Amino acid sequence: MSEHEFLSHLRQDHEEQKALGKKLISATTSAEREELRTKFHDALYPHMVGEEASMFHFLSQAQDEEARDDGLEALQEHHVAKIVLRELMDLELDSEVFKAKATVLDELNRHHIEEEEEDVFSHLQKLCDKQKLSELFQAYEKAEEQAK
Ligand SMILES: [Fe+2]
Ligand SMILES: [Fe+2]
Repeated sequence: MSEHEFLSHLRQDHEEQKALGKKLISATTSAEREELRTKFHDALYPHMVGEEASMFHFLSQAQDEEARDDGLEALQEHHVAKIVLRELMDLELDSEVFKAKATVLDELNRHHIEEEEEDVFSHLQKLCDKQKLSELFQAYEKAEEQAK
């Protein structure tokens, strides 16, 4: 059985985030850094808000304790990623910590993506039928759009 389009959509976003994170780390000029941090922000922030309003809202109410725990852990990772992302957006482009902060954010996000795709997606596949995943996809898109 092929994967639901909601999960494939999230995986595509993750690939884009990883590619942008890698480019952001190696950016050296202020112009490159400005362009890439904005692109990275736009690829990451609305995605997180969309996930929170859909799959994490759902998992927070799940009967399955492991599903709830994994959802809560992922939400804490979003919380930390948002703080570091905000700091990166506010940083002087020639700051000596720019590359270090971008690297930490990229590492946080890669770790988060791995757990999301392995654990969170498995919970959703176990707990949701096709109809429910479509509903979550709609909630995701609505919240993502509002966060842009
Ligand atoms: Fe996430
Ligand atoms: Fe994600």
